[in-house]
Amino acid sequence: MAVDGLKSLEYRGYDSWGLAWKEGGKLSIKKEIGKISGVDGSLLSDDCHLTIGHTRWATHGGVTQLNAHPHLNEDKTIAVVHNGIVENYQELRDDLKKKGHMFLSETDTEVIPHLIEEELKTTGDFAHAVRKACQRFKGRYAVLAVHTTSDTLVAARTGSPLIVGVEKGSGYYIASDTPAFMKHTRTVQYLDDGEMVVTDGKSILFSDIATGEERHKREIEISWTAEAADKGVFEHYMIKEIMDQKESVARAVNQSDEEIMTVANAIKNAKGTFLAGCGTAGKACMAAEYFFSVVAEHHVNFTPASEFKLYHHFLKPESLLIVVSQSGETADVLEAMSVAKAKGAKVLSIVNVVGSSIDRASDYTLHINAGPERAVASTKALTGQLAVLLLVSYALAGKLPEGKKLLLETAAQINDMLNPRYVERLRKLAERIKEREDLYIIGKSWNYPMALESAIKIQEVSYIHAEGFAGGELKHGPIALIEEGTPCIALFGNDEVTPDILSNSVQLKARGAFVIGVGPENNEIFDEWIRVPDVGNAQALANIIPIQVLAYELAIQRGKDPDMPRNLAKSVTVK
Ligand code: F6R
Repeated sequence: MAVDGLKSLEYRGYDSWGLAWKEGGKLSIKKEIGKISGVDGSLLSDDCHLTIGHTRWATHGGVTQLNAHPHLNEDKTIAVVHNGIVENYQELRDDLKKKGHMFLSETDTEVIPHLIEEELKTTGDFAHAVRKACQRFKGRYAVLAVHTTSDTLVAARTGSPLIVGVEKGSGYYIASDTPAFMKHTRTVQYLDDGEMVVTDGKSILFSDIATGEERHKREIEISWTAEAADKGVFEHYMIKEIMDQKESVARAVNQSDEEIMTVANAIKNAKGTFLAGCGTAGKACMAAEYFFSVVAEHHVNFTPASEFKLYHHFLKPESLLIVVSQSGETADVLEAMSVAKAKGAKVLSIVNVVGSSIDRASDYTLHINAGPERAVASTKALTGQLAVLLLVSYALAGKLPEGKKLLLETAAQINDMLNPRYVERLRKLAERIKEREDLYIIGKSWNYPMALESAIKIQEVSYIHAEGFAGGELKHGPIALIEEGTPCIALFGNDEVTPDILSNSVQLKARGAFVIGVGPENNEIFDEWIRVPDVGNAQALANIIPIQVLAYELAIQRGKDPDMPRNLAKSVTVK
C-alpha cells in the first residue's frame, strides 16, 4: 500500500525513494536511488505497520543513497521523512554535534531525528518531542516521524502540504498529495500551517505546534477520482493530459457568472492589481497582461512569484494580488501571497488543486477544473488558466457573454485540432528537427509569453536548447544565433501585430533559418506551416496546443521520458 502510494506521488520528485516501517519492534529501512515505478510492493511484509515513505527531489546534498529519506538517529529508533527545507539546519547540526550526535548525510533533514531524540530525553513522550523539535525549525517543512517504542505516527507542517485521508473503519493516510491514497478514500482533512497530527491508526488528534491546543477538522470529500489520475490508454501522462484539453478548456470556461463578476469587480475597485506565478503558470499571468490591456483596457502588473517580494513598496491594503498555480503548493507563490497579505492586500487565486494551500489561503478563488495533472510538464492546466484569465478580462470589460462564447468556440476548435492526423503532422515535423540542438520561438502580444512557454515545454522534456523571444527583439541581439537551418517557430494570429511577426520571420529566413509558422494562415515565408484555427483574442490557447504535441514528440523521438524530465519535480515546495 505504501509503495503504491509513493508511486502515485513520484511526480513530485524522483531522484531517490525510501521507506521505513515497524516490524517486530524495530525499524526496517529500504532506500534506493532512482524511480520507485518498477519496485514490487511485496517488499513490505504483511505484519508491518506505521510505514513512512518518501520520493526525493534533491535540495541539500546530491542524489545518493545516504541522502535519500528516511533519515534516522544513531541507534535507529527514530525515522523521519521530510519535504521542504530546515533553513537553520547548520546551526542545529552544530549544536547537536556538540552534544555528541553524528551525521551521515549532507541533508538538512538528518537534524530532525537527532533533535527529536534530544527532546525525547526531557519529555519522554514521542509526540511531545516532535512538537518541541518542530518549534526549533526555521523554514518550510512537512515531516512524518515514527519511533520504535511508540505506536503512533506523528506528522507536522509549516509551509509544505500535508493531507490526512480518512478511510472509515480502516485507518488513516497522511501524504503530501491526495493521489497517494485516492484508491482507498476521497475523504480528507487538511493540516494548516503550524499544525501537527498524531495517529495510532484507530484515532487521530490534530493540534497546534506552538501551543499544543487541540484543533478540530472538517472532513471534506474530494471530487477527483483515482481513474481521472490514471494514464488510461496513453503511454505517458503528458500526451494524455494534452488530449484532455478536448474537454478541459470547456470545463475551465464553465464558471459561475456571479463569481466571475465578483472577481472582476474586485479588480475594478483595486488600487493596483498584480499577477504572480512561476514557470508555465507565470506565462499565463504574462499573457493576462495582454488580455487585460486589449480586452478591458486595464493595467495589471506581472512579476515572477519568486521576484514579487521586491515590489512590496507598491502594495497597499486596497491592492489585489492574482496568483496562478496548478498545484496550489508552489513555495514562491505562497511567499508572494504572504508579502501581499502583510500589506493588507487581498489575494485572488486561480488554481487547479482544490483544497491546496494556495486555494485555502486566498480571499477569492477560481478553480480551473482541469482534473489531476501528473506530468511534470504542465499542459492542460495552462490552457485552463488562460481561459479563466481571458474570461475575467471580458467580465471586466462588461462583456462576459461575449468572452464565454469565444472561449467555448475555442474549446470546440481545440477539440477538433487534437485529431490523429494533426498529431501525425507534428510527429513528422519533430522527425525533421529532432537532431538540432538549438531552437528559437518568436511571438508578439500574447504570443510572446506563448513563445516563452513553448521554450519551457521543449527544453524540459526534449532537452533541446530552446529559447523564446519577442519577435521585435531579435534584431537587438538574438538574431546573431541564427545559422543555416536553425529551426525557428513563429507564433501568430490574425490581428494587428501579424504583419510585424511576419517581418520578423522574413529577417530570420534571410539568415538561413528553417522557419515554421504556427497560426491561422500560410505564407510563402514559411518552410513549414502548422495550421491553427483563427480564434481572435483566444489565439494564445490554440497556438500552444501544437507546440505541446511537438515537445512531446521531440522527447519521444530523442528517447527521453516526457513525464519525468531530469532535475525537475511537479510541485516545487521549496524556494
Ligand atoms: C512547466 C511547469 C512549471 C510550473 C511551475 C509552477 O511545464 O509545469 O513551470 O508551471 O513550477 O507550478 P504551479 O503551477 O503548480 O504553481
